Amino acid sequence: MSAGPQPAAVPSFHVRLAASAEEFAAAADQTVLASAVAAGIAMPSSCRTGNCRTCMRQLAAGSVAYRIEWPGLSADEKAEGWFLPCVAYPQSDLEIVGHAARTWWERD
Ligand code: FES
Repeated sequence: MSAGPQPAAVPSFHVRLAASAEEFAAAADQTVLASAVAAGIAMPSSCRTGNCRTCMRQLAAGSVAYRIEWPGLSADEKAEGWFLPCVAYPQSDLEIVGHAARTWWERD
């Protein structure tokens, strides 16, 4: 009996937190937050649905994608590299430089 086609391997990316120099692997099919937690890295979070902005971070390099239509970020914030690790899936290696204590009512 033939084994048939094998499922494609899920790509995995390298994530670095510049402030703490912590690093972890992030699979393309897991959120960045889920991968951080699995690696034992404490990353603030609350709703984990892309609404509260507790987890908001800024990218210096790399890109992420969302499976929800409108995560709680403005277009300007996205353009500045801000992202929500709880609902963001890595599409490349990531360099994370900032953490925002801002919440939705503090948006410009
Ligand atoms: S934990 Fe609420 S937006 Fe990420």
